Amino acid sequence: MNRIIRVSFLVCAFALIGAGLNESNAKREEITFSNQVARIFQQSCQVCHHPGDIAPFSLMTYREARPWARSIKEKVILREMPPWQADPRYGDFINDSRLSQKDIDTIAAWVDQGAKEGDPRFLPPARDFAQEWRIGKPDQVLSMTEEYVIEPYDPDNYVYFTIPIDFKEDRWVQAAEIRPGNRRVVHHAIAHLLTPRARAASRSGKAADSGPPIFYHQGSLARVRADAPVIDDGAKAPGGGAAFKRRQGEEDEDGFSIMLTSFAPGKQPDVFLPGMAKKIPAGSVIVLQMHYSSFRGALNKTEKDRTSIGLIFAKEPPPKQVRTLTIPNHFFRIPPGADNHEVTASYTFEEDVELIDYMPHMHLRGKDMKYEAVYPDGRREILLLVPKYNFNWQTLYRLKKTILVPKGTRIIVTAHFDNSAKNKYNPNPQIAVRWGDPTSDEMMIGWLDYAVPEAHK
Ligand code: HEC
Repeated sequence: MNRIIRVSFLVCAFALIGAGLNESNAKREEITFSNQVARIFQQSCQVCHHPGDIAPFSLMTYREARPWARSIKEKVILREMPPWQADPRYGDFINDSRLSQKDIDTIAAWVDQGAKEGDPRFLPPARDFAQEWRIGKPDQVLSMTEEYVIEPYDPDNYVYFTIPIDFKEDRWVQAAEIRPGNRRVVHHAIAHLLTPRARAASRSGKAADSGPPIFYHQGSLARVRADAPVIDDGAKAPGGGAAFKRRQGEEDEDGFSIMLTSFAPGKQPDVFLPGMAKKIPAGSVIVLQMHYSSFRGALNKTEKDRTSIGLIFAKEPPPKQVRTLTIPNHFFRIPPGADNHEVTASYTFEEDVELIDYMPHMHLRGKDMKYEAVYPDGRREILLLVPKYNFNWQTLYRLKKTILVPKGTRIIVTAHFDNSAKNKYNPNPQIAVRWGDPTSDEMMIGWLDYAVPEAHK
């Protein structure tokens, strides 16, 4: 009797200790928004999920995030959020935004435990996206000299603003970021440098002469003529698919010379590795191309914009210069209803270069894009594969380690377009589609940045 009591007492004691242990474990593992989840959202989600940015709802506060809990769990487990489209088999990227398994487990456990708020005193300080520069504090901020006004139902418009800069000597840009003044109307922005050399060329009419006849203008928007020659397999054509002759060095096809930096939904700012920077030649001015959109009447009042560019300069002249290369196909034609139309483009390097980053660009019918290198010895390598392109965010894929590419290497870019009714983003599956600035036309560009040694003459 005595023994039985004692045994059962022991059992109870163990059970109690066990329960106690379980309880404290569960306490330690209680996941709350304030304690763990807010930090993950700050790090990986809020850059798009804050008011006025591209995501359809905000994840800045508990009250905003709570209604989305189930959907959040699903999207992170499926790895659909944060969006990262590169096939992980190719390339190793610094800005790979995929969540770690640990963060995914934390978010899933938070939702399973009832998506609790926890004690708001444990919240990290909130990020302020209206004030924050993602590159850090700029050495210089350049802004549009005047405000631009856009009315509801205004058509899409490309507007060019000249921003004077008065650099007496070459300056080297280590990091650059465009901050739209008004996210409701700024569709995208590209800052080009108009160098003294390019200015002289356009004054002498040279740049204008090189303009090809395949384009026409609708207001400020350039479009390829419906009857222009059709070349889908640009990689096999003499110009690689580009309507412009690209020169190595300072000036590019449209006489704008260097593309300094750009803004597009979801795109990261430009930050170059140490020892590499982009040159602003002395005497250049910035030409800012702004694509304004009232998003087909989504505005309910007049909006104003004044966009700024933040620059961080290299501490000393870098050993290597960064250049931006455009590898486009201007001649494609996507037939009505085609659901997997292939278009290619290519470019051959005339010097040894180091590849730094890639940025695929298409519009609403863009489906996938692949970058390949064909080396002079015949070896062919996939550099980047984006199997499910999404126009909602334009990702810049920044390599962890640059890739050395010898003179004579050919870059081949291959894209597929879905012009069928199956594509839910397709504005019109009934028509043939060619290159054009309007979002309802298409583009096919494999952008990349590369570095070359800089002599500092
Ligand atoms: C690069 C920008 C970007 C980042 C970073 C991002 N999102 Fe999104 N998210 C979007 C956009 C745009 C949409 C709406 C379009 C879509 O669903 O394709 C979206 C949609 C969602 C949806 C789906 C809503 C619905 O309609 O069901 C969820 C859930 C979500 N995001 C959660 C997250 C979480 C959680 C993170 C971070 C771990 C995150 N997102 C990071 C841009 C982003």
